[in-house]
Amino acid sequence: MSLPTNHAGHLEIGGADALTLAADYQTPLVVYDVAQIRQQVRAFQHVFETAHVDGIVSYASKAFASIAMYQVMQQLNAHIDVVSGGELTTAIAAQFPMPHVSFHGNNKSEAELVMALDAHVGTIIVDNFHELALLDHLTTARQQPVDILLRITPGISAHTHEYDQTGQVDSKFGFDLDSNQATAAVAQAMQAPYLNLRGIHAHIGSQIFALEGFIAVTHKLMSLLADWAQTFDFTPEVLNVGGGFGIAYTKDDDPLPPEAFVQAIVEAAKADSTALQMSLPQIWIEPGRAIVGPAGYSLYTIGSRKDVPGLLPYVAVDGGMGDNIRPALYQAKYEAVLASAPQAPATETVHLVGKYCESGDILIDRQPLPTTHPGDIVAVCATGAYGYAMASNYNRNPRPAVVFVENGQAKIVVSRETFADLIHLDQSYL
Ligand code: LLP
Repeated sequence: MSLPTNHAGHLEIGGADALTLAADYQTPLVVYDVAQIRQQVRAFQHVFETAHVDGIVSYASKAFASIAMYQVMQQLNAHIDVVSGGELTTAIAAQFPMPHVSFHGNNKSEAELVMALDAHVGTIIVDNFHELALLDHLTTARQQPVDILLRITPGISAHTHEYDQTGQVDSKFGFDLDSNQATAAVAQAMQAPYLNLRGIHAHIGSQIFALEGFIAVTHKLMSLLADWAQTFDFTPEVLNVGGGFGIAYTKDDDPLPPEAFVQAIVEAAKADSTALQMSLPQIWIEPGRAIVGPAGYSLYTIGSRKDVPGLLPYVAVDGGMGDNIRPALYQAKYEAVLASAPQAPATETVHLVGKYCESGDILIDRQPLPTTHPGDIVAVCATGAYGYAMASNYNRNPRPAVVFVENGQAKIVVSRETFADLIHLDQSYL
């Protein structure tokens, strides 16, 4: 991975020296290069523009949700998707324009749906019959119309980690196609007086490297839209193909640029629109990882070291599985550099481990590094997606601070949790 360095030879993130960031804000620290986030969103939007296609980039905010992140998405005129009352609350606090919010989830509670209706969320992506009935009931009682998409299970498996697959038939998400559940759902939605069915949604999975699945899902959704238009008094307005575009975590990964997936989706949809003699719906994509993953870094301070004769040494940092569960949960691979000398040749290979009381707390199983010393700062790269978002307080460790950096200027966007925060919800039993 070729990383930017400054005149001192230190790792530079968004124009700021990583060592200065670590000194100013302490570690573990999550740092985002905001220009890189903006660049990726614009690159997606550019694909739509150059193809003269009406397209929407809807950031899947589960990858990293915070007020600041939503503000940046708003500046870029991107939409967002939220999957919980908590994400929605954050978007409301960010004063994100509600018409640009989609609400996802396979088990939205009644309270969450009411929240969404109160907030006038733009689109609710309906996942199942329970939700369809509940939303019909709520909107009728309130006499409040709402735009919806139906999420279907496309029956397309993505070649990715098992936990990251969502499109295969045996999945908890969306209406099944084979048993005609999707058609029944359209019929039900068309009869609901306050549900305005605008289109279809599918998401085939995450961290996908191959174009084929996206092309296949686009064809599938376009032909379903055409079927629905024929069978019902329905005008297809939205084709939402989800997210899942894979990124590079290590130098062994060689993904296509994320825009290439969108290009393929646009081409497939255009071809279908001609073949099916159907006007091209607005195309929505929902990337999360591709927008924030590569832009994020986790900075840690090295502490203890254990040498085992004949085996690789263990080098421990002041964070670990509490701020990045992905290696333990998905066997996810990352790469780290010494922030003071990212280009320095490696002199040894180490197990880079965390501080959590668990043997599986290994951030990087085999990391070549120059000789390190306690107090050195290491940066784990490409941790921006599903890192902080999935952080926990395991072992009662506070979650790190998050800093946004742009043009060399750093700003805290999520404060470091304190020990006081950790006991804040505890109640005495005496
Ligand atoms: N749209 C829907 C409906 C989704 O469920 C997801 C991700 C996305 C979009 C965004 O996918 P992305 O572009 O970020 O790949 N925690 C896992 C990833 C779970 C993804 C869940 N859904 C991980 O760390 O790999």
